Amino acid sequence: MSRVVVFGNSKGGTGKSTLALHAAVAAMVRGLRVATLDLDPDQGTLTRYVENRGRLHPNLPQTTHRRPAMGTEEAVLASLLAELAADHDLLVIDTPGADTPMARLGHAAADILVTPLNDSLVDFDLLARVDPESLRIERPGIYAERVWEAKKRRALQSGGSLDWVVLRNRLSPLESRNSRAMDGLLKELERRIRCRILPGLAERVIYRELFLKGLTLLDIRAEGSGVAMNLSHVAARQELRTLFEGIGL
Ligand SMILES: Nc1ncnc2c1ncn2[C@@H]1O[C@H](COP(=O)(O)OP(=O)(O)O)[C@@H](O)[C@H]1O
Ligand SMILES: [Mg+2]
Repeated sequence: MSRVVVFGNSKGGTGKSTLALHAAVAAMVRGLRVATLDLDPDQGTLTRYVENRGRLHPNLPQTTHRRPAMGTEEAVLASLLAELAADHDLLVIDTPGADTPMARLGHAAADILVTPLNDSLVDFDLLARVDPESLRIERPGIYAERVWEAKKRRALQSGGSLDWVVLRNRLSPLESRNSRAMDGLLKELERRIRCRILPGLAERVIYRELFLKGLTLLDIRAEGSGVAMNLSHVAARQELRTLFEGIGL
């Protein structure tokens, strides 16, 4: 069976779909057979990304992609998931920023759950409730509780364990009080609930530009990609490499 990597967070716009395709392409570049599963039928961002890639760059490596329709029965979803996992080395699952039955099923299938969050106390609140005066963690937030449920469900289903990785995305180069508070809180989070904090990714315009082209930072040196590499892209790729190594991909 392949490994299953799920991108999840109860918030939208944190980079789940973007990072899902980057992880998939990074694995394909290393010669692995990769499947992608879009469990966010409402937005379908990963599906659009994969479609753009297939249409504009048919010669680049492509994933086996599935996008089950909204309301697909749970048993049907579960067998689709098992089938994709059996036929590939890696299954990458993208989930919506909402607590849907599909999202729950996806979370419970994760060997590795990757949660990107914006560098903001607003995003952090979903992982843990923070006392506004002491800036200490009071209790788990709603998303941490969902992950806990997924861990229990997974343990019952397959006896396996779930490795939860949290990272900040779209980091600003400017030092801020918010950012320092986040540093401290993430360290405390790592101790308090079972997760691993990895170094984050900087805010870079290139991620937005690559979407319509169906490309990732790992493709842009490839023949015919039509995007020239600059220093910021090199740094961004290095960050991604460090991230994927940390995740264990
Ligand atoms: N590191 C980054 N720097 C700049 N823009 C980013 C970065 N990561 C993601 N984005 C952009 O943020 C937006 C939301 O990303 P997306 O992957 O769709 O998030 P989600 O799937 O969590 O809703 C997109 O416009 C994407 O291009
Ligand atoms: Mg998304």
